[in-house]
Amino acid sequence: MFLRNIWYYALPASELKPGQMLHKVLLGEPVVFARSKEGEVFALRDLCPHRGVPLSSGRLCGKGSTVDGNTLSEPQIECPYHGWRFGPDGACKAIPSLVDGQQMDVGRIRVRRYPVREQQGNIWIWMPPVSDGPVLEDTPEPDHEPPVMPAVESRQPALIERMIFDCHVDHAVIGLMDPAHGPYVHRSVFWRSEKSMYAKEKAFGPSEMGFTMLPHAPSKNSRFYKILGGGLTTEISFRLPGVRVEHITAGSRGSVVGLTSVTPLTETSTEVTQSFYWTLPVLGALKPLLRPFVRSFLKQDGDMVNIQKEGLKFDPRLMLINDSDVQAKWYFRLKDAWKEAGETRAAFTNPVKPATLRWRS
Ligand code: FES
Ligand SMILES: [Fe+2]
Repeated sequence: MFLRNIWYYALPASELKPGQMLHKVLLGEPVVFARSKEGEVFALRDLCPHRGVPLSSGRLCGKGSTVDGNTLSEPQIECPYHGWRFGPDGACKAIPSLVDGQQMDVGRIRVRRYPVREQQGNIWIWMPPVSDGPVLEDTPEPDHEPPVMPAVESRQPALIERMIFDCHVDHAVIGLMDPAHGPYVHRSVFWRSEKSMYAKEKAFGPSEMGFTMLPHAPSKNSRFYKILGGGLTTEISFRLPGVRVEHITAGSRGSVVGLTSVTPLTETSTEVTQSFYWTLPVLGALKPLLRPFVRSFLKQDGDMVNIQKEGLKFDPRLMLINDSDVQAKWYFRLKDAWKEAGETRAAFTNPVKPATLRWRS
């Protein structure tokens, strides 16, 4: 079961061009994303309620275009099978086979609408509760907003790398917040080696829908930070459902913001997207070097997940130890609290308490 009533990272905004549709399975549900010629993005369940044809295989009719003798006042998706058309609100707008006198309230036929937000070059999608029955009403508006990257205003990511991990979202998320695997899994020349391991102590506190490793000087055994020069501070926050934001400040020289988002596609596949924003000019010049580094970093995690999958086939009991796995424990507690709040319709209370964690890495 995946968390609902929450924003998931869906895709980079640059991937959906005006006048285009894009099909994607998220949390096991088929979704069609569409961007009108005017630039607005909307998302619907990618199944025609008539006979289940993916709407994304039809066409996106633009606002102002004439379809079947009607000039459209909004963009509509036309199903390729019998031409039913659906608006951005998910309501059916036309059933072309009807003749005069055949009374039918077409607007009552609906396909589920997913609220979306486009900000800072990202498209976020709100996943409402699962419903098996027919959709009779529009999806209510979300009660909170997706995360905003600090210090980068309306900039777009300067670098995006994505990878699909063959695992349940939980394994991808806890791999992301696992401080002890670095020297073993990311043993590349650019990162660190187990010979340079030392004991660390980091202060954490609760933050919006998650927790934050409070601002500190970054690890001295990491080469990535060395590239950025001295005088750095970094703050790393995690929030549900699987969003990690690292904000590195290089004094007056500028900032680097890394967004790692983990989105379940199905029960057994998870998309991890790593985006970087920066206001530091030096990184523009280093970008060609940075991309292969980010890619190999993600691949190292993905390869480990694939090895782990072989073991998980036997459904073993797993362990979470102190203190290196405490963030993973918090993740599971946060998830439980989110689910409980959804079920009881109570306000979500963050179960994380301020703590200092110690580990070697
Ligand atoms: S299946 Fe879509 S219109 Fe018939
Ligand atoms: Fe990793």
